[in-house]
Amino acid sequence: MSGNRYNAFDQHGNKVTSMIRTGARKRAFAAGLALERNVGKTGKTFWKKVPMQVYTAATSKPTVADIPVAAKAEVEIPTGHAEMMEFIQQSYDLKPKDLVINPLKWKYLIRSAVRGKNIMMTGPAGCGKTLAAKSLVNALDRPNFYFNMGATQDPRATLIGNVHFEKTKGTYFSESLFVKAIQTPNAVILLDELTRAHPDAWNILMTVLDQGQRYLRLDEQDGQATINVAEGVCFVSTANIGNEYTATRQLDKALLDRFVIIEMDTLTDEQEHGLLTYMFPSVESAMLKNVSSIAFLTRSEAKADNPRIASGISTRTSVEIAGLLFDGFTIQEAADITIYPQYDADGGADSERTFVKQIVQKFMDDGSSDDLFDVEDEN
Ligand SMILES: Nc1ncnc2c1ncn2[C@@H]1O[C@H](COP(=O)(O)OP(=O)(O)OP(=O)(O)O)[C@@H](O)[C@H]1O
Ligand SMILES: [Mg+2]
Repeated sequence: MSGNRYNAFDQHGNKVTSMIRTGARKRAFAAGLALERNVGKTGKTFWKKVPMQVYTAATSKPTVADIPVAAKAEVEIPTGHAEMMEFIQQSYDLKPKDLVINPLKWKYLIRSAVRGKNIMMTGPAGCGKTLAAKSLVNALDRPNFYFNMGATQDPRATLIGNVHFEKTKGTYFSESLFVKAIQTPNAVILLDELTRAHPDAWNILMTVLDQGQRYLRLDEQDGQATINVAEGVCFVSTANIGNEYTATRQLDKALLDRFVIIEMDTLTDEQEHGLLTYMFPSVESAMLKNVSSIAFLTRSEAKADNPRIASGISTRTSVEIAGLLFDGFTIQEAADITIYPQYDADGGADSERTFVKQIVQKFMDDGSSDDLFDVEDEN
């Protein structure tokens, strides 16, 4: 049992929670029994409670009680300082392979979360802010809640709740999921795209995020009812600060002050090539190299003194292109669909689009598109 969750581990310590329904795990825990996987006559898997010894007898050393504890240590956050330090220092092992992030920043992310800081991931579009936040949530295996603040039209309804009226009941209040979230001990609460939220949302969040206050005021008018943020709750938000996004509102300075800022870096071309190769091992490596080179060249240009394009191609777009190559599209087709629409065609030969087309052109006529798949050589 970890927090309010019942996790399952196999005899080797691998986590298998998601394979077994909550009820079965809970009952096995209550009975102190192991679960054995069985397949019924209809071919359906069912889990049968059996004595722990069935699985522990074979291995000599660990006792019945040792097994779950040892296995759980992977995600259980220790309380003593020395153990906590150890946990943070070893936390790189918890990073999923499909997330590319500077090791120090990942460590800082984990540390900030276990220390109950409010975290804000910043960086340009499509650089992995949301992915990093979600990876953190998965790595820590805590109760988690997701709110896309950029998509909320009515901040009060999303963060506080709704007042309803029914003839039989009269006026009553139904609280939001957010109210439930902040009352869940050790919850990790994702506030995605906070910069795009309505300023009303920021006002409501102001006291919630303040370490000295940590409460939500249900009714701003009478100033009475408040709900306290539970112990160990950590907020992780993402923001596009200071980039090309015009829809992004300038985040209030006072709100920003309540966060530890972790800036996601744009990937280097080697890092991006590595990511694409990891994600699409059957696509020829040279093709993926072209994708990462195109992306890198556009990013360098956007950073130059007198840039001819305002922004570079994001990692999101690179991954998208690689996915198209995987499905048999040529790099030209992929560029037509994913890259060019992002660049303005106004100005003809001097347009952003023309400039980007020239970059793509350099990587096209090398014949590599004839031989897209190279399954034997790649692992
Ligand atoms: N650093 C990264 N490591 C691995 N994959 C990445 C990275 N950055 C981007 N990607 C890929 O791009 C996709 C989009 O990333 P993500 O949603 O995290 O971007 P974001 O920074 O939140 O963008 P936005 O500002 O638009 O919200 C991911 O699903 C992933 O496939
Ligand atoms: Mg995002």
